[in-house]
Amino acid sequence: RPPIGITALGMYVPARVVPNAAYEAHLDTTAEWIESRTGIRERRFAAEHEYTSDVGVAAVRDLLSRDPDGLREVDAVICATISPDALMPSTAALIASQVGLGGAAAFDLSTACSGFVYGLSVAQGMILAGVARRVLVVGAEALSKVVDQTDRNTAILFGDGAGAAVVGPVPGGYGLQEFVMGADGTGGSSLYLRCAAPQLPGGFQMGHSVGMNGREVFKFAVRVLGDSANEVLNKSHLTSGDVDWVIPHQANIRIIEAACGRFGVPMSKTVVNVHRYGNTSSATVPLALREAIDDGRVRDGQQLLLVAFGGGLSWAACTLKW
Ligand code: ACO
Repeated sequence: RPPIGITALGMYVPARVVPNAAYEAHLDTTAEWIESRTGIRERRFAAEHEYTSDVGVAAVRDLLSRDPDGLREVDAVICATISPDALMPSTAALIASQVGLGGAAAFDLSTACSGFVYGLSVAQGMILAGVARRVLVVGAEALSKVVDQTDRNTAILFGDGAGAAVVGPVPGGYGLQEFVMGADGTGGSSLYLRCAAPQLPGGFQMGHSVGMNGREVFKFAVRVLGDSANEVLNKSHLTSGDVDWVIPHQANIRIIEAACGRFGVPMSKTVVNVHRYGNTSSATVPLALREAIDDGRVRDGQQLLLVAFGGGLSWAACTLKW
């Protein structure tokens, strides 16, 4: 099949920095507890009237500042998000109309923190099916708007931000290689954000904002990151020794460390920025990739492994020759 890859990439994080110490005033927690259990030191929060479409647009504008021709031939926009401005209109449509892509196909994709990697796969499929020449995939979140800031179990984990990637044809030998994706709705009650129904199948009553069973998610995450990474490497005829950089979903440094142990890539080859941004859900993978390119870690021709997990419960991994 013709090679399809990422042809342009932008990122955005809001200006407002929220350090761990900010939670000590209103929650029964300490900055030290948060950092030692999660690796997070600070995160960014969107401004009062800054929502997911705004952070998404800002990431696309960053993409354009790096590559003014970057949106050429884009026929479709996918926004992976769990904090959409609204269920309708789609956040993708709102973003598209503000970046000169009005008229392009646009839709949101809901697989939580796996959403950006899922989006790359959907984009590749649309291009190979001949329904789009290039696809803009945005992972954007304003989670500070949907997380209960009085719940110490969840409030401390999440931050806001966005990444935007154009997926399109690339030269031979580069680009997206293999994908592994999955979901298990029986774990849905471990991590949820309520919308229309007050309860999940099976009768599990949901609260009004993000709810989480941290221990269950932790165990699931370590297992599924390891298993999906191993599976996608096998499918790509690669070993962990072939990987130059792992770009994992940034939820918790302890999850990343334990998962890397399971697929045999050392932390020295793993991109980590969870300490500065916390968990920005669908934005973590493009944020980490963009920063690792900018600081010279990820270079032309390197073998990358992108791996993520999230609500659903869901998972997604892909191999990518940068
Ligand atoms: N400050 C102080 N104590 C806290 C806090 C806090 N902020 N939050 C929880 N605690 C308490 C708990 O209530 C618990 O008390 P208990 O023993 O009296 O019940 C105690 O700390 C220990 O709780 P554990 O769950 O054992 O702590 P753990 O070491 O597992 O860390 C954490 C908790 C950080 C939530 C961890 O389980 C985790 O990271 N889980 C995964 C979460 C995650 O990744 N979620 C996002 C998924 S991606 C997506 O799709 C959005």
